[in-house]
Amino acid sequence: MNSFGRAHFSDQLPTSLDRKNCVLIYDQILSRQHGSWIRKFPNRLAVKSGETLKDVKILPRHLTAILNLSADIPRTQLTVVAFGGGSVGDFAGFVASVLKRGVKLIHIPSTWLAAMDSAHGGKTALNVGQAKNQIGSIYFAQDTYLVKKVLLKVPRTQVQDALGEFYKMALISGGAIWKAAVNEASPDGDFLWRHLRLVIRGKMQIVKKDPFETKGIRHLLNLGHTVGHVLETELGLSHGRAVHLGTLFSLNWSCQQGFFKFMLVPALWPSQSELKRSLKAVKNPRQKLRLDKKTSDGDAIQFVFVRKPGRVFVRKMKMKDLLKEWKRQCQ
Ligand SMILES: NC(=O)c1ccc[n+]([C@@H]2O[C@H](COP(=O)([O-])OP(=O)(O)OC[C@H]3O[C@@H](n4cnc5c(N)ncnc54)[C@H](O)[C@@H]3O)[C@@H](O)[C@H]2O)c1
Ligand SMILES: [Zn+2]
Repeated sequence: MNSFGRAHFSDQLPTSLDRKNCVLIYDQILSRQHGSWIRKFPNRLAVKSGETLKDVKILPRHLTAILNLSADIPRTQLTVVAFGGGSVGDFAGFVASVLKRGVKLIHIPSTWLAAMDSAHGGKTALNVGQAKNQIGSIYFAQDTYLVKKVLLKVPRTQVQDALGEFYKMALISGGAIWKAAVNEASPDGDFLWRHLRLVIRGKMQIVKKDPFETKGIRHLLNLGHTVGHVLETELGLSHGRAVHLGTLFSLNWSCQQGFFKFMLVPALWPSQSELKRSLKAVKNPRQKLRLDKKTSDGDAIQFVFVRKPGRVFVRKMKMKDLLKEWKRQCQ
């Protein structure tokens, strides 16, 4: 193992965990399909997934329950196991990073978003009211289990939503994964499973160069997110669809800036007219873009551009130029 942890790919949920020393924190909806595996953990906490789970206000209640569950486990053996989507992973990861000043953490992601993205890279997060992810730590899991039996049961609509993040990562990494993305006409869960290893590798290559987000390199992973976040919050789109549209916006702007002339994109991409409609539906984009603290710094914005698949880069742009481009892509 290195300090970034290990990823394990398997057909079934792991049976080798030292269960008596684990506290399993799991999305309650998983007990329907994976109840017999869950019930083998003597110390377990069912949680309701979503942004309220990440609300700092409910942290004390959960911490009290977790401390009770782990009372007889020696600190050095204690392991928090997070079984769920990104909200459960962010929450349980944070708990592991502060519980008794830090205990072992294992992720078992149960959504495609978590399997491709949030379970890797060490970011944990809680929300303060409406301010998302404002509290957190960078705390790497010791092991992350990617389980085919779990992920292939995810409903098809969620697979469609996850494609935005898949294509984002494919564009960042380029090579075999982008080629596969372009050549696949109807990507489904099997397709995502076959390429999961490459997606994770692509993310971790970037994370390893900038694990604590101090060099600006990790910012590349925000491709499509500047515009995507605005579409997600303003129009209520799923995160994946919004990122997909945001990535198309980035490609259009990159082309307009002359970074490339032509690029073949996968057949299943959102159309230019869907992007246009979505951009037009946002009232006062300037105000909404400025709320994105991750990218905006007063009147400047760190925008991720694409030169070609496998070559993306960040450039500081003026807010007024981004707004001009927003307007251009509305026409
Ligand atoms: N830490 C990071 O690097 C990082 C990166 C991206 C996103 N995030 C965070 O991740 C969260 C979004 O992730 P998410 O969409 O996985 O969130 P989620 O945990 O809210 O799950 C989404 C929905 O899927 C359901 N679900 C979970 N497993 C399922 C399964 N196997 N089958 C069917 N339904 C299932 C959940 O109950 C929930 O209703 C956000 O809070 C976001 O901030 C974190
Ligand atoms: Zn994202």
